[in-house]
Amino acid sequence: MSVVTFGESKVALLPHETVLSALERAGQRIPNSCRSGVCQSCLMQAVTGEVPAQSQRGLKPAWVQQGYFLACQCQPAGDLWVALPNKVIPVFSTRVLDKHLAAEGVLVLRLEVPEGFTCRAGQYLHLEMEQVVRSYSVASLPAHDGYIELHIRRVSGGKLSNWLHDHCAIGAVCTIRGPLGECFYLPDATADFPLLLAGTSTGLAPLEGIVRDALQQGHQGPITLIHGVLERNGLYHADKLHQLAATHPNFSYLPAVREEGESGDVALLLKQHFAQHAANATRVFLCGAPELVNSLKRQVFLQGAASCHIHADPFVMAPAAP
Ligand SMILES: Cc1cc2nc3c(=O)[nH]c(=O)nc-3n(C[C@H](O)[C@H](O)[C@H](O)COP(=O)(O)OP(=O)(O)OC[C@H]3O[C@@H](n4cnc5c(N)ncnc54)[C@H](O)[C@@H]3O)c2cc1C
Ligand code: FES
Repeated sequence: MSVVTFGESKVALLPHETVLSALERAGQRIPNSCRSGVCQSCLMQAVTGEVPAQSQRGLKPAWVQQGYFLACQCQPAGDLWVALPNKVIPVFSTRVLDKHLAAEGVLVLRLEVPEGFTCRAGQYLHLEMEQVVRSYSVASLPAHDGYIELHIRRVSGGKLSNWLHDHCAIGAVCTIRGPLGECFYLPDATADFPLLLAGTSTGLAPLEGIVRDALQQGHQGPITLIHGVLERNGLYHADKLHQLAATHPNFSYLPAVREEGESGDVALLLKQHFAQHAANATRVFLCGAPELVNSLKRQVFLQGAASCHIHADPFVMAPAAP
């Protein structure tokens, strides 16, 4: 039986138990959100002991070398002494500058940019409020706009999304950790390759930021943004995006409303895109509901997009409590 030591706590792991669950059982508060190995909010460092390779999947090679691992994925074979990772993910204190509804169930939250915080539109951060940590993508260009904008979908029964919608006050202080993620615009020598961005609901957040970033950096190639929603009242920032399209001839904005038939089928719109643009030159960004993001990722790969040019951020949530 493996024993995990964290500060003053020593806890023996139960069969098939992860380090995260064992430390929580021992009364420790370890940041976590998706519990699926995606968001990296449960990152810890093994000070001594070996962690399984599976718990280091997706981490930067330098972090792997220094013994960082994801506590929600870690079932060690031997004893471990672990610590929180304050050295590798920067932590900032900030406050809420503004909040407003952009559509039914979609909250736009703007935070002050703390001194020293830098981030690319499309990356995500961990927001901690009310002792809960969740991941949210950055929709703004913080250095240019002067605020960090997050788009938060209300999840039925969800702890933080409902608290942010209903109770969070302007001026409230919060902690952010980050930025994380590789989902952002990178120009190359030509800047004329096609960009294809598709997202559902608040999956628009990182994509809107990436489009603005690409346009500001003078991207010359065609940029297509597909925003998929179930019903028309789920569309938001449509005026802003139509306006951006009107002033930038290389940018197309395609709202896709599922209940309106073929015109709302995101998979079909992607297929049509590749009928007009070379798939192997296209950079693809996919964000939002995990099932759709994962199936679109397969689809664009099979249609010829290179895997190194497909960036996907599935918004994975914690599994429902048993
Ligand atoms: C990299 C990354 C980036 C993200 N970016 C964003 C973002 O920009 N905007 C955003 O809104 N979210 C984003 N998320 C999701 C976000 O982190 C939270 O998971 C989400 O806000 C729910 O948190 P909560 O505390 O309200 O819900 P929780 O208290 O965590 O509870 C959610 C519960 O609802 C269940 N559930 C799952 N799907 C549904 C559903 N469709 N309807 C009802 N219940 C469901 C879950 O199983 C879970 O039990 C991102 C996630 C990741 C991993
Ligand atoms: S990666 Fe462990 S909680 Fe998200």
